[in-house]
Amino acid sequence: MWEYTDKVMDHFLNPRNAGEMENPSAMGEVGSLACGDALRLFLKIDDNGVIQDAKFQTFGCASAIASSSVLTELLKGKTVAEAEKLTNKDIAAHLGGLPKEKMHCSVMGEEALAAALKNWRGEAAPAPAAEGRLVCKCFGVTEETIRRAIRENDLKTVEDITNFTKAGGGCGECAPELEEILADERARMASAAPGGKRMTNIQRVMLVTKVIDEEIRPALKKDGGDIELVDIEGTKVVVSLRGACVGCPSSQLTLKGLVEKRLQEAVDPDIRIEEVRP
Ligand code: FES
Repeated sequence: MWEYTDKVMDHFLNPRNAGEMENPSAMGEVGSLACGDALRLFLKIDDNGVIQDAKFQTFGCASAIASSSVLTELLKGKTVAEAEKLTNKDIAAHLGGLPKEKMHCSVMGEEALAAALKNWRGEAAPAPAAEGRLVCKCFGVTEETIRRAIRENDLKTVEDITNFTKAGGGCGECAPELEEILADERARMASAAPGGKRMTNIQRVMLVTKVIDEEIRPALKKDGGDIELVDIEGTKVVVSLRGACVGCPSSQLTLKGLVEKRLQEAVDPDIRIEEVRP
């Protein structure tokens, strides 16, 4: 039996904002019944970008219900920009903590929120758990989800990864790959950390190129867009958007919210993106 806090039990037994929403401004869906947990998050966002209402439907355990419930409470009244900063740690903290084996429920909340905000911006909604390369087939967990969980929660072992994402909790076939991703992501975190060994220019150029080619370009190409790396001067990365991204009203959001943010996370927090038109 798991040890749940009073807050978890309260939100589980008296879930806030449960149910479907009529005419939501945005909807985000993650997980799948086959994997044991699923969450659908509905948001009503006004013209000023303020979240006026949030509701959820979930299939899962007590912590999945409690995490979804507290997430909707946290979201109401926040601007989209504020909501974007919420992470699974905020969800768990507002529940007074979750058993470590159940942290994946809070991660599911963060992912549903990200999917809903993507939906609100009019970006193509990814199929549930289908963004990025699939690493754990038993639970449909992608490399992107695993890397984000490692970074945001400072995960140190494969067991931690399983607790936060469920990856590795089935047949165990993905365990060697989880080890590799863990080692690689922790090395990136160490080089980007203040006081960590500073990257040389060559290392930075190689890592920026790798992240753009392996993560950012495939994500943009899914929606018919593309990006070209033009130049790198220190922490200034010059790029040119291509394909459907050219002239797209959301192109500045793509540059700041996707390209710059991901490079800051994966390479160097000081990175700044500059765009040159083709
Ligand atoms: S593939 Fe990851 S546990 Fe089976």
